[in-house]
Formats: sequence, structure tokens, C-alpha cells
Amino acid sequence: MRQGLVVGNWKMHGSRASVEALLGSLLDADVAQGAVVARVEAAVCPTYVHLAQALDLCAESSIAVGAQDCSHMQSGAYTGEVAAEMLAELGCHWVILGHSERRQYHAESDDLVAAKLAAAVEAGLQPIVCVGETREQREAGEAQVVVAAQLQGALTGQVGLAALVVAYEPVWAIGTGLTATPEQAQDMHTFIRGCLADIDAVDAAATRLLYGGSVKAANVAQLFAQPDIDGALVGGAALVAEEFQAIIDAAAVAAECHSE
Ligand code: 13P
Repeated sequence: MRQGLVVGNWKMHGSRASVEALLGSLLDADVAQGAVVARVEAAVCPTYVHLAQALDLCAESSIAVGAQDCSHMQSGAYTGEVAAEMLAELGCHWVILGHSERRQYHAESDDLVAAKLAAAVEAGLQPIVCVGETREQREAGEAQVVVAAQLQGALTGQVGLAALVVAYEPVWAIGTGLTATPEQAQDMHTFIRGCLADIDAVDAAATRLLYGGSVKAANVAQLFAQPDIDGALVGGAALVAEEFQAIIDAAAVAAECHSE
């Protein structure tokens, strides 16, 4: 059975004070709800500069910490880059790769995502690879073709799909309030699992698939009720402690239902 996973992508938000306040609230709930977190993994991905602070604050908790990106290179003259190994040494568990904002604003190609994935796996980080189509691509009926190409581009030559997490984040749903319907999300998740099965049928059944795009407490229960939605990659709602906690709680309820 796949364990639920809820990851907060804080994007370029936060200050030392807000990180302390947000994690303070989440950690209070974490201590109070040991049984919930046993069924669901939770993680937060702050900016690079807030990673050490978040890791210190979360040290005694079940909340893991991840980065939003990493370099595809191991070290060297790459101004502004951060190596996967550095993140692992710091204590990060997760790394988000190929987010659509990286693809859009930093021209990240599938080849670059593949190289970052290899670097992350080599460093022992657990990668969350993001895929998703734009509104124009969906309207043109190309959503599956686009997602299949992104998966193939990033995963070709990779082994150990079971440890991989794939996040389906339709670009039109990110930060827009336009969540994919549970059916749209489930359809794409089924398709993604099929693509993964073409690479490795056994591991594909164990790969966790997250949905991301305007996830909030109010819409998450229906998404988590879908059999191939194993959790969520949450943007805006992850910056509000009660919202993010409610999403973790909903994942725990769904995990219990799925196991019955
Ligand atoms: P929102 O939840 O703000 O739509 O962002 C989703 C996202 O991009 C998470 O990586």
C-alpha cells in the first residue's frame, strides 16, 4: 500500500519570522497527532536560505524538509547553483524537480530535469518530479502527449521508480484557483501510472503520484478519494498552517479509507 504524502512547496515566500510561526503551528499539531502522521508523510520545501532553519525546527518531528530544486552538477564554477549533495548533507530528504515555474522561467528542459534527477538520486535525495500541461495544450487535446513526453524525458535510464514521486501539476491549475476535477486528476494519474508501468510494471504500482494545483482544505477530500492520487503538492495553502494541517488530516482519513 502506498503511504499518503503531503508536501508544501513554499516557493519564494517566507522570512525567518514567518518560517518560525508556520512551523511552530504545524509542529504543535504534529506532536498532538502522532497517529495521523504515522499514516501520512508530510514535508515542507522552503527556499534555500530557510532550509537550515526549517531543518532545526523540524529536527524532533515527523515533518521532513526538502528543497525546491538542485543543480545537475556536483560542484564547480556554477554561480548561484546548489548541489544535491549539499542539500543531502544539510539534512534535506526531498527535492522538487522540474516544477513548471522552473520550466517556464528558467527554461528547464526535460534533459535538464533528467540530469537533475540523476544527481539527486546519486546524492540520496528523494525526488519529486513535476509534470503537467498548459491550458492551451489541454484545450488542444495534447495533455497526455505532453505529460508522456515529460515523463519519458525525465525518467529514461532511471532505475528504482518505486522510490520516485511524480507530481501531476496542470499549469492551468497552479495558483489560479482552478483545481482539476477529481475525475480529470484521476484520469491523468491513471495515465501516468500506465506510462511508468511501461518502464517498470512492478515499481510503477508503488510509485506515489501527487496532485498539485490550487489544492486547499475545501477541495482535497474528493481528490484524495481517487485511487491513484496518493497525496498533494501544495503551494499557496501550504503557507497557512490550518489549511496545510487540514490537508494532512484529509490525507490521513483517505489513507484509512483506502486501507479498509
Ligand atoms: P498552488 O497550490 O498555489 O496552486 O501551487 C501549486 C504548486 O505549484 C505546488 O508546487
